Order: sequence, then structure tokens, then C-alpha cells
Amino acid sequence: MRAWSRAARARGQRIGLVPTMGYLHEGHLRLVDHLAERSDTRVMSIFVNPLQFGPKEDLASYPRDLARDRALADARGIDCLFAPEDRAMYPQRPRVRLTPGELASHLDGPWRPGHFEGVLTVVAKLFHIIEPHAAAFGRKDVQQARIIRGMVEELNFPIEILVTPIVRESDGLALSSRNSYLSPSERRIAVSLSMALEEGHRRYRSGAGMPGEIVAAVKGVLQQERVIVPQYVELVDQDTLLPVTVVEADNVLAVAAFIGKTRLIDNIILGRGLDGDERLPLSAKPALR
Ligand code: PAJ
Repeated sequence: MRAWSRAARARGQRIGLVPTMGYLHEGHLRLVDHLAERSDTRVMSIFVNPLQFGPKEDLASYPRDLARDRALADARGIDCLFAPEDRAMYPQRPRVRLTPGELASHLDGPWRPGHFEGVLTVVAKLFHIIEPHAAAFGRKDVQQARIIRGMVEELNFPIEILVTPIVRESDGLALSSRNSYLSPSERRIAVSLSMALEEGHRRYRSGAGMPGEIVAAVKGVLQQERVIVPQYVELVDQDTLLPVTVVEADNVLAVAAFIGKTRLIDNIILGRGLDGDERLPLSAKPALR
């Protein structure tokens, strides 16, 4: 992998990287499009990273389809697919971890102990192996993107980090590989997450000044569905990711909830709502184009 990258660099090409865990959907593929403007050649990594899954999480059942992913990535302008096996990434039991510190003290951090350590560690490895000039991450995982940006800044990685809007289904559900776990009835209910965030956003627009009002509005919508079990609804500062005491534009309103056995996350930025995101046309499948 590094030989390929170094050869591209030696030709004067700017290398873009899209790190993924595969089972590609349009959200992943939009990252490729965004990166196309900032790179001459593009690498996608596909690696279901065991280090970022908790013992009770879905590592074993995480959806995988490398043949389909390869076709989708190729059609979207990926020049190199890096899909290492576990033993290539972790030839021995990994001992070293990067830790995100305070950036993981809220939102997903407390609910997924060790998760962001696993993410940072694998992303640092990918950055060292591939040595890209730029890498793209989705705002779908807003805390992940912020933590990776923090790592790059604080540890002087010479890599430009792009963070791109959330890609949603036409009804508003954020695309996720984990949506494939949802039964048809759960899928219908899953739209409540983005609807709840929109309700919180409406409260913001109508002048709510206390974070508690906005959070309560989101929870109120989620409570209408019995199968939804929220983990958190938080309004945080987009830089510190700490809960705000006064509501401001650009705060991040974020939610995590179980729908049956499936854990989903979503977020919006106050002042932008879902409008800043991209919506797929009705029943669009990730097209081979
Ligand atoms: P994965 O969940 O496969 O996501 C890969 C990238 O796609 C992430 O940057 C994620 O934010 C982005 N993404 C997923 N759904 C999206 C959507 N609906 N709209 C926009 N972007 C979306 O995130 C990971 O993998 C892993 O943690 C990884 C960074 C690869 C490290 O293992």
C-alpha cells in the first residue's frame, strides 16, 4: 500500500483517502465526490476495525460485501482499494492506543467505552500506511470527525481533513450501513430520529434560549414510539463537544437511540437544520454509475 502511495506522490499526485468499514452506501460515496475536488488520485480503505467495537457490540454481525463494495468504489472513481485482513492490521495483540480525552466525555463517549480509542488508533495507522494529503469524513459521525481533526492538529499529521454533510434518505433518515439491520416496521419508525431533531430545531427557530427546552422537544418526539429507546439527546458546542448552557447558532444537536436491537445516531447543526444535508431522491439505491 505504501509503495503505491509513494509512487503516486513521486508522480506529483495529491492523494485523497476515504476510510470506511465497507458495506458502502451513498453516504460513503459522496465522501469520494467531495474528495475528488481536493485530490488527483483516491484511496478507499475498507476495514471493519475490531478495536472500535465493544464486547457486546455488533462486530461479528457487521454487514460485509467486498465484491459489491469494490464495484461501487470503482464506479465512483476510487483508484486503489485498501482492504487489509485483521492480521495484517494487527499482527500482534494491539497494546498502544490513542485517546481523545475530553472530546469523548459526552455524546457517544460514555456509551461506547474504548470506541474512540479504537477509531483514533486505526485512523492513525491508516494515515501512516497510506500517507494521504487529504482525508474525508462524514458529519454523520460528528464526534468522530471532531476527534480525528483534533488528533491531526495536536499530533501534527500533515493531512487536510474534510468534513462533509450528512446524506439522508428522502424521508430524512441518515444513511448508515447499520440501517440494513432494521425490519420494515423499524425502518418506518427510524425516521423519528431526524423528525425529532427537526422538532428541536423548530424550537430553536422559534426562540428557545435554554438547551433543556430543545432537548425536551426532541425527547418528546422520540417518546411517541415505544420501540425507540434513546441513549442520549444532547446540545453541545461544535468545537468542545461539551453541553452548552446558552443556545447558539452552530451548536450541535445530537441523538443516539436503539430501535429494537439497532443503535442509530444522528445530528443537526442549529441554524442549518436538515437543510444543510443532502437528500436522496425517492428510493435511490447506491447506483453504479
Ligand atoms: P463507516 O461507518 O463505514 O463510515 C465511513 C465514513 O462514512 C465516516 O466518515 C462516516 O461519517 C461517513 N458516513 C457514514 N454515513 C454517512 C452519511 N449518511 N452521510 C455522510 N457521511 C456518512 O466511520 C467509520 O466507518 C469508522 O469509524 C472509520 C472512520 C472507518 C474507522 O474505522
